[in-house]
Amino acid sequence: MIKPLRKAVLPVAGLGTRFLPATKAMAKEMLPVVDKPLIQYAVEEARAAGIEQFCMVTGRGKTALVEHFDVAFELEATLRERGKTAELQALHDQQLPPGAIVTVRQQVPLGLGHAIWCARAFIGDDPFAILLPDDLVLAETPCMKQLADAYAQTGGCVVAVTEVPRDQTSRYGILDIESDDGRLVAVKGLVEKPKPEVAPSNLSIIGRYVLVPEVIGYLARMDRGAGNEVQLTDAMARLIGQVPFHGLRYEGRRFDCGDKVGFLEAQIAFALKRPDLGPAVRAFLPKYIDA
Ligand code: UTP
Repeated sequence: MIKPLRKAVLPVAGLGTRFLPATKAMAKEMLPVVDKPLIQYAVEEARAAGIEQFCMVTGRGKTALVEHFDVAFELEATLRERGKTAELQALHDQQLPPGAIVTVRQQVPLGLGHAIWCARAFIGDDPFAILLPDDLVLAETPCMKQLADAYAQTGGCVVAVTEVPRDQTSRYGILDIESDDGRLVAVKGLVEKPKPEVAPSNLSIIGRYVLVPEVIGYLARMDRGAGNEVQLTDAMARLIGQVPFHGLRYEGRRFDCGDKVGFLEAQIAFALKRPDLGPAVRAFLPKYIDA
C-alpha cells in the first residue's frame, strides 16, 4: 500500500550569500515575488497537493518566517477598524490551521541533507515532501501536486527534474537514467554537482521532492559530499534499488530565486500573469529594452 503524502519539510536555514546585503538580517525566503514572500508560495503549493503538516528548518535570523505564519492580532484589528476587508481576507487566506506548522533549528548550516535530518522527529515513519522555497515554479497544475499525483501511482521517491545546459551540470544534482518515457524517468543513479565531462545526463533535480523516511538513516551517517556539505542527493542515491525511484518532468516554468537573474525574471513572469498588474507591466517594459 502506498502511504498518503501529508507532510512537508521546508528547509530555510541557508545563508543566502548570493543575496547579500538583502539577506544580512532577513531570510532569503521572505523576499517577495510581486507581493508574496517565497515561503508563502511554497506553503500554498504544498497545500494544493493535499499536504497538511509543515516543518520549517530554520536558523539564526529567521524569526520573520515564523511570525509570517502567526496571527497578526494588532494588524488585523486595525484593518478591521479601517474597513480594509480585502487586505484582511488576504491575511486569513494564508492562515494555516492551529498546530499545522512547526519549526526546528539547524544550528549550523552543514548542507541541505543535514537540514532535512534535523526534521527527523517530524518525519517519523511517513513519506514526506521537500520544497525549497527559492525554487519557484509557475505552472497550471502546481508542481508539488504533479509530483504527489505521480507518487500516488509509483510510490517510493519522486523528484522534479528539468533539462539544464550541459555546461551547468556542476551546479545541480544530476540523474543517471535507467529508462525514460518522456515524462517519468526511472533513475539508476544520482550525482551531486558533476563536471560536464562526467555528468551521466543533463537532467537535473529541482527543489521539489517526495521521499521515503528511510532516507534519514543514510543522512544520519553525516557523510560529507560536494562542497564538504552533507548532501541530500548522496543519501537519496542510496535508496535506488530499494524503493521505486523516479524523476518527473513537470509541466511549468521554474525560476531559481536564489539567484539574482532568476529572481528578477520571476518578478516579471509572475507580475505579467496577474490580471491587476499584467497590463501595466506590459505597457512599461518596452521602455527599458534597447531598440
Ligand atoms: P542554497 O544552495 O541555495 O544555499 O540552499 P543558501 O545558503 O540558501 O544560498 P547561497 O547559495 O549562500 O546564496 C538550497 C536550500 O537549502 C537550504 C536553503 O535555505 C535553501 O532553501 N539549506 C541549505 C539549509 O536549510 N541548510 C543548509 O545548511 C544549506
